[in-house]
Amino acid sequence: MKRVPVIAANWKMYKSKDEALEFIFKVNQAVPSNEVVESIVFPPAVFLNLLVKREGENLRIGAQNMHYADEGAFTGENSPMHVKTAGAEYVLVGHSERRIYYNEVSETVNLKLISAFRNDLIPILCVGETLEIKEEKRTQEFVNHQVEKALINVDKEYIPKLIVAYEPRWAIGTGKNATAKEASGVITHIREKIASLYSKELSEEVRIIYGGSVKPSNIEEILKEKEIDGALIGGAALDPENFIFFTQVAE
Ligand code: G3H
Repeated sequence: MKRVPVIAANWKMYKSKDEALEFIFKVNQAVPSNEVVESIVFPPAVFLNLLVKREGENLRIGAQNMHYADEGAFTGENSPMHVKTAGAEYVLVGHSERRIYYNEVSETVNLKLISAFRNDLIPILCVGETLEIKEEKRTQEFVNHQVEKALINVDKEYIPKLIVAYEPRWAIGTGKNATAKEASGVITHIREKIASLYSKELSEEVRIIYGGSVKPSNIEEILKEKEIDGALIGGAALDPENFIFFTQVAE
């Protein structure tokens, strides 16, 4: 089945307002049609509304995080309603930096995933193993477990909208990427896991992308793998020219 590739730039906690606007102006007209590649930018939350107002027709904006509750006494958090109101269409769920630094656990990842679907946001569920787990040769077991826990009580009607990002933690921001073959192998098994939880047909609709030290020099090799439906990119996608290049390679 043909799946539309996804190129997602996670800005993390980088860029000033001027830099953010400059990026959007540069890439707006240069990215391919949204029917051919989904090009998404995940800025810091305070820029969501500003950038949504300026996004071109082929660019999409997403939030890096959100709370799972629709509202509540949670100082400093943004609800799915806030994220939607700001105009975001996508949300990252369970990014490893949230899991490592902000106590994001499987239960909250699962609640956020359910909440994203309920609020008509497209989630990118991030999973990936530590170096220790990789060295113990437990990558697949660990990643499958993360996927399974995240999908508890997620209704099958939402599965075609799901995007999963396989991001080995040891590859994030380190310059060391998984080889295209390694990533493709893990992704194939993630799809099989989703098939075992739902059905083969539904699993084939899920976009499963790779993240972790993706750069202009390795994107072509990574996207050549037919199981890899795109990339979630941090550092290298802060540069608008790189971002445009990534979307063109995915085209
Ligand atoms: O969300 C993106 C990932 O954390 C990858 O970051 O491309 O800087 O390694 P990176």
